Amino acid sequence: MKTIAIVPAAGTGERMGTNNRKKPYLLLNKRPLLYYTLTALDSIASIAQIIVAVAPGDERFCQQQVLEKFHFNKSIQIIPGGSSRQESVRRLLERVPEDTQLVLIHDGARPLITPELLDQAIAETMVWKATVLAVPVKDTIKSANDTLQIEKTISRERLWAIQTPQTFERSVIQEAHQRASQEGFTGTDDAALVERMGVQVKIVMGSYDNIKITTPEDLIVAEALLKKRRNNRRDR
Ligand code: CTP
Ligand code: MG
Repeated sequence: MKTIAIVPAAGTGERMGTNNRKKPYLLLNKRPLLYYTLTALDSIASIAQIIVAVAPGDERFCQQQVLEKFHFNKSIQIIPGGSSRQESVRRLLERVPEDTQLVLIHDGARPLITPELLDQAIAETMVWKATVLAVPVKDTIKSANDTLQIEKTISRERLWAIQTPQTFERSVIQEAHQRASQEGFTGTDDAALVERMGVQVKIVMGSYDNIKITTPEDLIVAEALLKKRRNNRRDR
């Protein structure tokens, strides 16, 4: 099945608080975050092409700092993203060729995704048509009112922390984004747009390592996780 990977990486990373460098280009062990994300996607045989959305105006910068500095085997296309993640994904979807069966969406800000998880996401989507990676919630979750008084404790048993990749049949995700845009609906992930069309989305077990780099301490955690991986490889 022809699969295209699309990578929203057009955010500025406000919560990182690094004003001089946007998040996708922050260094993790001397390499930009986006390098890791693209390297994992580049290693998957069934992915035919990768399309990345970057902040408008940064196309050349990304080309020079990431694509030309490191070696990738697949065709990687860079396009300008939009003012929100959803808008960036919508623009990416417009570039997906019509002969594509599956679209895998993976955030540029999740550099620790592994080839194994990507393969699983793709294999499960061949069966289920719409999948998201997720892990069971570890914290106790409560809801509270405006004055921070707790309303209730939500049973953790059925709660999942949702990650990317989120992978869909092309027609399903394209229609979901088209409809959301027409109807002015904003979701916090792509699956939410698919769910509201009544399409069943299946969870694929993700990994607690597959963190999203959001705030500065996430980089420290990511560095430690990468080190663990290197040591594991050495031990084998
Ligand atoms: N993203 C995007 N287009 C936007 C906003 C976000 O493609 N207009 C991407 C980010 O680059 C990131 C992913 O969506 O890879 C998840 O977003 P998030 O982690 O929130 O990144 P930022 O929006 O850059 O960070 P912040 O919200 O702290 O500004
Ligand atoms: Mg954001």
